[in-house]
Amino acid sequence: MLPNVVLNQHWTGFRCTVCDRAYPVEFDSMVCAECGVDGILDVVYDYNAIGDTINREAPFPAGGTRDLWRFAPLLPMHPQKYHSAWSVGGTPLHAPQELRNKTDLPYLHLKDDTSLPSASLKDRASAMAIVDAVRRGISHIACASTGNAAASLSVLAARAGISCTIFVPASAPEAKLAQLLLHGADVIRVDGTYDDAFDLSIQEINAHNWYSRNCAYNPLLVEGKKTAALEFILQLGLKLPDVIFVPTGDGCIVSSIAKALRELFEICLIDKLPKVFGVQAEGASPLSTAWQNHANHGDMNGQEILELIPSMTPDTLADSIAVGTPRNRIKAWKRVSATGGGFVSVSDNQILEAIHLLASKAGVFAEPSGATGFAGVLKAREMGLITGEERIVVMVTGHGLKDPGAALSKVTVPEPTSL
Ligand SMILES: Cc1ncc(COP(=O)(O)O)c(C=O)c1O
Ligand SMILES: [Zn+2]
Repeated sequence: MLPNVVLNQHWTGFRCTVCDRAYPVEFDSMVCAECGVDGILDVVYDYNAIGDTINREAPFPAGGTRDLWRFAPLLPMHPQKYHSAWSVGGTPLHAPQELRNKTDLPYLHLKDDTSLPSASLKDRASAMAIVDAVRRGISHIACASTGNAAASLSVLAARAGISCTIFVPASAPEAKLAQLLLHGADVIRVDGTYDDAFDLSIQEINAHNWYSRNCAYNPLLVEGKKTAALEFILQLGLKLPDVIFVPTGDGCIVSSIAKALRELFEICLIDKLPKVFGVQAEGASPLSTAWQNHANHGDMNGQEILELIPSMTPDTLADSIAVGTPRNRIKAWKRVSATGGGFVSVSDNQILEAIHLLASKAGVFAEPSGATGFAGVLKAREMGLITGEERIVVMVTGHGLKDPGAALSKVTVPEPTSL
């Protein structure tokens, strides 16, 4: 039996990112009733009330565990007790000296989420999904995924004793499929792209009344991902970085990081917003392409943003961010532009180079998508968007052993030595 779940009394409801319509906490359809699938919702809180509950000398005390529920004041709900199905978080923030020296980035930090139970940042969202499913009394969870959200759901659902169905594009790497199948997920391989898998998953979820762990669709899941940023700000002793680089596919992680910072600002724990950059692979770069093509990034409504961002057929070795139609594009665009950051894209070769540098100079083995944020730092310096002197945090979002094939192209396997 999983422990009970408690609602945050300062969670006031949802707001549509397209039309700004407000919905109460009890609203249980995942998207805006008027705008349909494009009307992704944002979770809204009473920040004044939350601010009054925060101890400014020692905000978010860890208590006995260092998991993400320490941030309960800024989350919609929390479980009453520890359980391994949802107690994740507390990952390291590295200050990698060798990598700093090698790349001449003296204030570089790596937020290393490769050490979570399923080896990607997605565990933060899956933990929230399991808690919310328990609250609603739903015992079957489903999602579409390029691989990591699925792996994460299958690991944590197995811990919770909850069943799950997962829709993956046929191209998902074998290591990721192995993880799903071994943990007992029901896997549907879709002969198409992630975007096709996503559409099919929504149909099936609605038909069977399953719980949807589609982060781009279920607004509560971004809240779990927010905790990665809340953690690194605490790890920096509330001393703000200047810029943050985040690998970006659907745009959920990047919007969650920007939302976390905005909320720390709203509750007056920080007094300005660092710039957040979403980094896409060139072969799957709708956000970055639209960003470079349009000078005016702020002051646009949801509909205008939708019209600006092209869909494309993804073509990159970074399978986790091979997304042609970023489902969270409005949220990502609005949140990133509010920080003064932006979107950039990097080539597959730059991603491979980033994997190599992270592994050899920082001891952090990232899968291609996981290394894309760091590739973005090098690209942003080339483009003159940063000088390199800034305090930088890079999100490393997924472990390299999930897709070692890509990394092998950067090394030479030695011939066996004859005895
Ligand atoms: C390792 C990794 N990094 C980054 C991302 C991009 O996240 P989002 O789709 O929220 O932009 C993903 C998404 O699958 C991922 O698995
Ligand atoms: Zn709407």
